[in-house]
Amino acid sequence: TETGCLSIIVLGASGDLAKKKTFPALFKLYQQGFLQLNDVHIFGYSRTKLHDDELRERIQGYLPVENKVSSNVSDFLQLIKYVSGTYDSREGFQELDKAISEHETSKKSREGSSRRLFYLALPPSVYPQVCKMIKTFCTNKSCLSGWTRVVLEKPFGKDLASAEDMSAQIGELFDEPQIYRIDHYLGKELVQNLVKPFSYFNLLLLSLLFLDLETLQLVLRFANRFFLPLWNRDNISNVQIVFREDFGTEGRGGYFDQYGIIRDIIQNHLLQIFCLVAMEKPVSTKPEHIRDEKVKVLQSVNPIRDEDVVLGQYRGYKDDPTVPDDSVTPTFATVVLHIHNERWEGVPFILKAGKALNSRKAEIRVQFKDVPGDIFKCSKQGRNEFVIRLQPSEAMYMKLTVKQPGLEMTATQSELDLSYRQRYQGVVIPEAYERLILDTIKGDQQHFVRRDELKAAWEIFTPLLHRIDEGDLQPLEYEPGSRGPAEADKLLEKAGYVQTHGYIWIPPTL
Ligand code: BG6
Repeated sequence: TETGCLSIIVLGASGDLAKKKTFPALFKLYQQGFLQLNDVHIFGYSRTKLHDDELRERIQGYLPVENKVSSNVSDFLQLIKYVSGTYDSREGFQELDKAISEHETSKKSREGSSRRLFYLALPPSVYPQVCKMIKTFCTNKSCLSGWTRVVLEKPFGKDLASAEDMSAQIGELFDEPQIYRIDHYLGKELVQNLVKPFSYFNLLLLSLLFLDLETLQLVLRFANRFFLPLWNRDNISNVQIVFREDFGTEGRGGYFDQYGIIRDIIQNHLLQIFCLVAMEKPVSTKPEHIRDEKVKVLQSVNPIRDEDVVLGQYRGYKDDPTVPDDSVTPTFATVVLHIHNERWEGVPFILKAGKALNSRKAEIRVQFKDVPGDIFKCSKQGRNEFVIRLQPSEAMYMKLTVKQPGLEMTATQSELDLSYRQRYQGVVIPEAYERLILDTIKGDQQHFVRRDELKAAWEIFTPLLHRIDEGDLQPLEYEPGSRGPAEADKLLEKAGYVQTHGYIWIPPTL
């Protein structure tokens, strides 16, 4: 672990993202002692003219302080200094550099190191400009050991050409190992399970869970088969990766309308999860090896056909004054992807995301094929499914068919359930941003999007997005609070998904 002077510079410090995500995540890292390993200072930079204390006051209300000693809060806030300036002003960035350098050369600084982490909580339109300013005026001092890293938030462009253009401009200023493109879904606890030592899922945990249940030893063996030899086109019927929100674009209509649900959720968050579910075994767990496999699977995706897409827009979306009255931006989309490789040929990967639906959840649902020669008529009860619930109520559960307890010989659907909050009581599941910021300090790029990965992701969606932008594909209207357009369910059915009626997984209560 490196020690010494660390400066974290939050650009766009007075904005929403900084207040709601960046500063609270920094605070949580501070509370857990991660920042104290370093002589750390946090700098806020934005256009608004503020005193240090005014910024601190703005941030304070957003810090998660339940059950925590309040002195933590004031100690943390004292680490924050503020510099105001525009995003294209030489003076502003020179002043910022001066403030950082003073900290680095102060007596308090234990070592002569200069580690500078720039977090761009800014609209992407200013990224190239701001990166140029950082490069020219604020990079770490060469006389001291250390580094300069930049953290960027999506959206990275609007299509392949604009993303490549942005990548090229930033690529001229910084090397790839200095650039951290955040996709916060990669920081979620259960997403991480997909990439931890290759067993896709934590088999050891499952075995501990079932060890004393003798009758289920067979299940354990089955579980072993389930995850490794069954993870392919011979056994899996379809995979769904679903994101649902039960609220609309509230307050973000202006931003959202320029992007739509595919650019906001599917091309990044859901596609990242898709990669982890579908990729081949990496050579090792090194970040570059994992990212190599992600690129490979993205490159194996077939072009999207119109019949693989259903778009929706919820009724009332256009009532937002920041949304044009004739907007055809989708707030819902189901897109079926097909992978052209040995493992997955013919298996539909259904990516579905929507705003203003009937529930809030994100999950991966792997549905297996029917049992051949089924003497119990099990298929009537529903298929085997392996579900990873990313949020809320983080869990993994396997839906399977068992005998209904009692004298009758009837089969019924049940589940093997590993619910995290029940199984790991008292263990705090870290927020995505906490983990990702810590990774940037450590220099671990595994959970960040590499330039070629981004390009491959845009290659998949750009033709479809251009057709939508040109009005060739129109969204269907759906009721807020519903499941989305009925046509989307028909598309799922066409893709081979069989819904289990009468079964519902209920998260266990503690
Ligand atoms: C953001 C999207 O990236 O992710 C939002 O821009 C969305 O539209 C959000 O609401 C969802 O993130 P989470 O972590 O709340 O599921």
